[in-house]
Amino acid sequence: MKILVLNGPNLNLLGEREPSVYGVDTLDDIAASCRALAADLGCAVDVRQSNHEGGLVDALHEVRHSHRGVILNAGAYTHTSIALRDAISATRLPTVELHLSNTHAREGFRHVSLIAPVCVGVIQGFGAAGYGHALRALHTHLSKAEDPHR
Ligand code: DQA
Repeated sequence: MKILVLNGPNLNLLGEREPSVYGVDTLDDIAASCRALAADLGCAVDVRQSNHEGGLVDALHEVRHSHRGVILNAGAYTHTSIALRDAISATRLPTVELHLSNTHAREGFRHVSLIAPVCVGVIQGFGAAGYGHALRALHTHLSKAEDPHR
């Protein structure tokens, strides 16, 4: 079972970007802990990042047959991107929306998510630990989906 952990704009700067909001872990730190947890769970993760809306759409298209699900921190595109929402619907990959910060406790423009309605669920506000929570949740969801006795 392969899972894509896809990160959007400015998340390459984690560690130095507003650490009081996003914490001190870098994206490499997060990728390493996702890989370790995936090994424990018996699945594999592929951690990617793009600052470009089309790059994120392309990544979803590319993995649509090779991966079983997606953990998506779309950054600011969460609040603006119909293209990303359509890509999630088009690929039909079960997707967990993820944010390090609790977007509902922040500016009003972050309260709207265009992707949440097409995601399996949303995890936010737990900092870097949220990636692990999302991975466990998605792994459980996908395992249930393949259990004929559920
Ligand atoms: C974010 C929240 C977004 O509102 C913001 O634009 C980001 C990061 C988060 O992880 O908390 O870039 O997705």
